Amino acid sequence: MTKKITIAIDGFSSTGKSTIAKELAKELGYIYVDTGAMYRAITLYAMQQNYISGNHFNTEALIGDLADISISFSFNDTLGFAEVYLNNLNVEKQIRTIEVSKLVSKVATISEVRKKLVLEQQDMGKNKGIVMDGRDIGTVVFPDAELKLFMTASADKRAKRRYKELLDRGDKVIYEEILHNVQERDHIDSTREDSPLTIAKDAVEFDNSDMGLKEQFERIMSLVSSKIS
Ligand code: DC
Repeated sequence: MTKKITIAIDGFSSTGKSTIAKELAKELGYIYVDTGAMYRAITLYAMQQNYISGNHFNTEALIGDLADISISFSFNDTLGFAEVYLNNLNVEKQIRTIEVSKLVSKVATISEVRKKLVLEQQDMGKNKGIVMDGRDIGTVVFPDAELKLFMTASADKRAKRRYKELLDRGDKVIYEEILHNVQERDHIDSTREDSPLTIAKDAVEFDNSDMGLKEQFERIMSLVSSKIS
């Protein structure tokens, strides 16, 4: 007999959390939730309303609108994962731009934003059978998750991966800009007051700077097997 568990994956940006999470969810028949996409969708909303740009952020206005912002996911059979919707519009592509990446960590410092999203995430996971990735999943969203993973890799390796992803999508990007963004987000995510990125006491740490996907997946699956059997 196998039981359904909650798998929480946290770690720095571009550590391959979502790649591993998607694979695990597929293998186990679990739901996968990319919580970074939810923070990105709120950031996109704030940009569309001109509440945030490089040099200003009207936090009051964003907080005032939060109750009316709807974020949802819908599974895309062709892609094999759930895409994110902002107020019923598919924004999966728009939230992955460097412009959103540059502002999202600031939006993620706002406690009201975090409160709303954490409640929605807890609701999505209430029946277990879920793989969720983010920054505070094992510490705040699901402190009782049966399996917690914490992914790390050097900033240079992470920036190179991100750079390649954006180039493959056809975006015009400069490597130094990506590296700077990765380092800046690490700093903001780890030093913010509300739910900073920290490793949960009971998390298993994975430095995948020099580890391929296959090896990571096999190691993680053996941890999963010991929890579900
Ligand atoms: O995983 P990502 O790079 O798409 O996340 C984007 C940003 O959202 C990240 O810089 C920090 C924030 N975030 C967060 O604060 N808490 C989460 N659970 C997920 C993401």
